[in-house]
Amino acid sequence: MSDVPGFQHIPVLYEETLAALEIRPGGVYADGTIGGGGHSAGILERLDDQGRLFGIDRDQEALAAARKRLGDDHRVRLLRGNFHDAKAMLPEGLQLDGALLDLGVSSWQLDSPERGFSYHQNAPLDMRMDQSGGITAAEWLNISDEMTIKEALYQYADERWAARIAQIILEMRREKPFETTGDLVRAVDKAIPKAVRQKDEGHPARRAFQAVRIAVNDEIAPLTQALEDWVSLLKPGGRLAVISFHSIEDRVVKQAFKRLEVGCICPPKLPVCVCGKKPQVRLPRGYPAAASAAEAGDNPRARSAKLRIAEKL
Ligand SMILES: C[S@@+](CC[C@H](N)C(=O)[O-])C[C@H]1O[C@@H](n2cnc3c(N)ncnc32)[C@H](O)[C@@H]1O
Repeated sequence: MSDVPGFQHIPVLYEETLAALEIRPGGVYADGTIGGGGHSAGILERLDDQGRLFGIDRDQEALAAARKRLGDDHRVRLLRGNFHDAKAMLPEGLQLDGALLDLGVSSWQLDSPERGFSYHQNAPLDMRMDQSGGITAAEWLNISDEMTIKEALYQYADERWAARIAQIILEMRREKPFETTGDLVRAVDKAIPKAVRQKDEGHPARRAFQAVRIAVNDEIAPLTQALEDWVSLLKPGGRLAVISFHSIEDRVVKQAFKRLEVGCICPPKLPVCVCGKKPQVRLPRGYPAAASAAEAGDNPRARSAKLRIAEKL
């Protein structure tokens, strides 16, 4: 939890993540999704006076919370931006002993109605993590074609009713452009029959909100390249820990790590390797760590969390 008033976020898989990073006391670390600084505070506790921590977030308010919590620590440097651009953001030539990416949004972002991530309160439909640029979720829903909306709902949230929801969104916006979270909740309500909605164990709009958020913040497409970049920033033996919160994200992490783990990909019939591909990482555990029953009970957000680790060779 952060000590910044109003900023509430319990870091998930906290002990597991810090253990996985095998922190070297004098090492250089980066947290690409610093949020309220929960995990980073743990990294700092394990660093000595020579250690360094770079913290990145694309959300101005998250960064302000991290600054308030950690900013007077001389070992910390905070940077505003997208972790997809880490290679350009971090000092040239920097080699890291370890890095963390705790993907997605924080509880605080989800629970701040004015940010437009929540289907529980009616508010402007924004959903941008970086509010300094880009288009809001409302604008995205108002300008995207039906196929793009359908594909996003299907690919980013496995929404079975993707086609129908996309069709309803287009019908609704012809009457009145989308403006609020309530508009998106109404579209889902109209699209999914009541009997089906009533059988849903969670809120029927949660998948649509997840899909639109991922689309608006372009969370998936650049992730594979970003993971390769982060691995390239590690020293030999340095570790990258990635926490994901849904199966689509976890699949990207798993496949990216797998590709970095394997060497030659030449067809077996070739007598010598011509691709030149070398293994770049080892995966210290083949399967991801998940929250214990106790953590999942205390923090519902932890229920879907998966932690994967790659160690640079
Ligand atoms: C799950 S929270 C991290 C919480 C943090 N580990 C803690 O313990 O407080 C994710 C944070 O990452 C940020 N974020 C998500 N995607 C990002 C990206 N591509 N670049 C930079 N920050 C990002 C979000 O704004 C949010 O503050």
